[in-house]
Amino acid sequence: MYNEDQTKVLQQKSVDFLNAANSITENNIEQLRNVLRFNEYRYYVQNNPLISDVEYDVLYKALEKIEATNQSLITKDSPTQRVGNGLVNNFAKAEHLVPMLSLENSYDADDLIDWDRKAKELSGLNEVEYCVEPKFDGASISLIYENNMLVRGTTRGDGVVGDDITPNTMQIKSIPLSANFMEYGINQIEVRGEVMLNKKNFKAYNDKQIEEGNPPLANPRNAAAGSLRIKDTAEVGRRKLEAFLYHVSYVTPLPPKGGILDSTNSSNFSKQLSTHSNMLEMLWSLGFKSPKKEMKVVKGIQAVIDYVNEFEKSRDNLDYEIDGMVIKVNNLQLQDKLGMTSHHPRWAIAYKFKARQATSKLIGIEFQVGRTGAVTPVAKIEAVAVGGVTVSSISIHNEEYIIEKDLQLGDSILIERSGDVIPQIVKSFAELRRGTEQKIIFPTHCPVCEHILIKPAEEAVWRCSNMNCKAQVVERIIHFVSKDALDIRSFGDANVRKFYDMGILQTLTDVYQLPWDKLKGLEGFGEKSIANLQTAIENSKTQPLNRIIYGLGIRYVGETTAKTLANAVSHLKDFTTYTEEELKQLDDVGIKVAKSICAFFSSAENIELIDKLEQLGLHLKNEKKTTTTNGNLTGFTFLFTGTLSRLKRSDGEAMVEANGGKLLSGVSSKLSYLVVGEDAGSKLEKAKKLGTITILNEEEFLKMLSS
Ligand code: IVH
Repeated sequence: MYNEDQTKVLQQKSVDFLNAANSITENNIEQLRNVLRFNEYRYYVQNNPLISDVEYDVLYKALEKIEATNQSLITKDSPTQRVGNGLVNNFAKAEHLVPMLSLENSYDADDLIDWDRKAKELSGLNEVEYCVEPKFDGASISLIYENNMLVRGTTRGDGVVGDDITPNTMQIKSIPLSANFMEYGINQIEVRGEVMLNKKNFKAYNDKQIEEGNPPLANPRNAAAGSLRIKDTAEVGRRKLEAFLYHVSYVTPLPPKGGILDSTNSSNFSKQLSTHSNMLEMLWSLGFKSPKKEMKVVKGIQAVIDYVNEFEKSRDNLDYEIDGMVIKVNNLQLQDKLGMTSHHPRWAIAYKFKARQATSKLIGIEFQVGRTGAVTPVAKIEAVAVGGVTVSSISIHNEEYIIEKDLQLGDSILIERSGDVIPQIVKSFAELRRGTEQKIIFPTHCPVCEHILIKPAEEAVWRCSNMNCKAQVVERIIHFVSKDALDIRSFGDANVRKFYDMGILQTLTDVYQLPWDKLKGLEGFGEKSIANLQTAIENSKTQPLNRIIYGLGIRYVGETTAKTLANAVSHLKDFTTYTEEELKQLDDVGIKVAKSICAFFSSAENIELIDKLEQLGLHLKNEKKTTTTNGNLTGFTFLFTGTLSRLKRSDGEAMVEANGGKLLSGVSSKLSYLVVGEDAGSKLEKAKKLGTITILNEEEFLKMLSS
């Protein structure tokens, strides 16, 4: 919606207005509205605000003040006339059947005890039964099923009206497209839940962003919220979102059959709708991901306190992020009796875990040169504990990121650490500036070798253009021996640097040709540590191909792509014959990655490196693919897609390999057979388009094996 230039102008204008909020006049009214619209867009549509909520309020109030004294200047589209309407990004608006309320928050046992006291008073009970479940940290969603069919998926929006994102909802595999609610006597139902990106997928997403030179997202919550609003439905599917459903907000029962109430349905209906935990069980049994396993039904608040404390301890072991627990009165009739305020139900409360956000101060910037020459600014901050870890430096990725987050030296900043994700700066508090802060100046020359930095048009990072820059060479070697690559742990970064300076480790192949006699007698290199290093180096020669590919440090090829690549070939050098088009057929390989791989394998220097590594004993063959060479599938390549009905996919794949066939991970002209099951999608289409691939169903595949 806003291009780069407009963004810069509006961002600057926001700062200008904030610096002089009291002196904005009616002459600036339209500009002020535009600034507010822009910031709403950043917040609601992009989930990437540039100013804080407080700052937004300052500007909003300034507009209200001007409009109050200049009523004739009020326009229908003024942000003040929106009254909480969520913003649209070409999605139709849809009204929730029941408003989506928020939750009251609690932070410690005393808060919970107070809340329990009120619940007991209002209910007249001595002890209340509660259902305790995780508070999922994602983006909320509301689904409507009618006659068992999913008919609508909606974002929260302003709580009353949200965005109709039905097609995107249908891309989330954990949301059933139909569910047998009728079995429970339910005709129409509105189900609420949270869309999440689990930790693993979030990390993979961010790794890819970083590989491609884009700044990563601060947390899975932003990633989930942003993903729900993508206009390209297929891309939503690729994000691998999931949804936990934890609340039924509205139900209409099935009409009685021929005037007589169906006894099975009606008893199911009243049973399932008597307690919250029953509803979670019903959702689970209908194929939804509900917190059935995580929830606990307990009596009295002490048991609640015990469970939330116990759960907080296992927080880091979960696959997904939670930011607390939600405690709900279990009996639904009692829920009705307790009712709600305009903001939250009285029958539920959120218990928030210790924050993984903290404020600190930006006290310095270091510019580090990476293995691809990328110059990354690293923020040095006043040490602060976040989520149990002390953080004193944070990568801030690139120049644009500094501009976008409006970072200045001396700024107060908000940082966040989501689970095992590296800490991120969420924002700076521009409103707390004292005038002594300094702009961050990006260097024009490499801080290590002093070569000029260049920024290719399509990239966000400045790069040192000198391939032989010491920083790049050393970082390439450190990457090669790192844990996720060749895993020669005993090397350590410091030794790589030391050996480089000694002139004995200046290329990747030097790793396997160290002059051991020169190491003897060196401080820290007794016989034992030399022997350890020798063993580790020797062991690394048997690392699988994907680790070697990753270790080579091909631009944009992270761990996931390296696995895809390793699975696609029988030998690393097969890539010398691959075209960009063929590479693009592989999972996760886009044009940028394909170009980079082609460039790598067309360099004579790189081929020489690969040959030498093989001579030195590394296994560049894909061992998995060459186990059997004399079965009746020898010479043919296979790929499975869709859901098979008789076989598990892994069994099918094992059969191919056992019979001498090879597995490919994507559709390309190298593929001989595509075995398709139910709901085969894009791979089948691609195969049909190519026209050279034989498409088999499961029966045909099994017949082929037995023939
Ligand atoms: S119940 C009427 N249960 O937290 C009450 N909400 O901070 C409906 N959330 O807006 C909400 N996990 O998006 C409920 N287990 C859970 C939840 C949960 C996450 C979200 C939800 C809500 C927000 C309030």
